[in-house]
Amino acid sequence: MLTGRDRTRLEALGLPGSLIVADLRDPAAADALVEHALDANGTLDGIVNASGVVAFGPASAIGDDTLETLFAVNTLAPMRLLRAGSVALTASAAAGREPFVLTLSGVVSEVPTAHMAAYSASKAALAAWGKATGRELRRAGIRVFDARPGHTETGLVSRALEGSAPKLAQGLDPALVARRIVAAIVNGERDLPSAAFAEPVVD
Ligand SMILES: NC(=O)c1ccc[n+]([C@@H]2O[C@H](COP(=O)([O-])OP(=O)(O)OC[C@H]3O[C@@H](n4cnc5c(N)ncnc54)[C@H](OP(=O)(O)O)[C@@H]3O)[C@@H](O)[C@H]2O)c1
Repeated sequence: MLTGRDRTRLEALGLPGSLIVADLRDPAAADALVEHALDANGTLDGIVNASGVVAFGPASAIGDDTLETLFAVNTLAPMRLLRAGSVALTASAAAGREPFVLTLSGVVSEVPTAHMAAYSASKAALAAWGKATGRELRRAGIRVFDARPGHTETGLVSRALEGSAPKLAQGLDPALVARRIVAAIVNGERDLPSAAFAEPVVD
């Protein structure tokens, strides 16, 4: 099941599975998404938190709306999604499957970055939460793990909530980053630090 804010953009991806439009700034979205996934598929075996927003500029000047959106989408939404899905994920493990929750905090949670302070903070909070939650849920058979790729050429930086990106070196290829993450999901890996994206992908 695929989600985003715009049905046309989701349909344009041409991927199989059901689509649901939701805005993750809405605290009620997580419960609605899990309910939809269970209606569509009967089970929930994984959550990929690939939604995110970025902002640039000095920490002393960032706007309130930007701060709130960064933390709502990057930090609170994955927390709420796991909470909404935890019963179904536990049932998936009990049925012998290998449920997982992936977060994509990115390299900024390892190296908080100037002029991206609030983005870095929202992602560092996400990474800390995921680590602690993973310890809580390991016994239940739910794997919570974090991927921390460096700058990737998805166009995210051109969609910043505020400010503009400093001149960046050529980023990683999004297809290679996605392949590396999918390989980690399939292979049962428990962490994907930034260094993991410098190695060739072994499927
Ligand atoms: N690109 C990088 O350099 C990089 C590096 C490390 C980590 N990351 C992280 O990787 C994740 C994916 O980023 P990306 O590079 O693929 O950027 P992207 O192409 O801009 O994708 C961001 C996604 O977030 C969704 N989104 C944004 N605001 C939303 C909201 N309020 N409600 C629901 N969905 C929302 C967007 O969907 P719609 O706009 O269609 O709603 C889009 O699918 C993000 O968490 C990002 O922080 C990116």
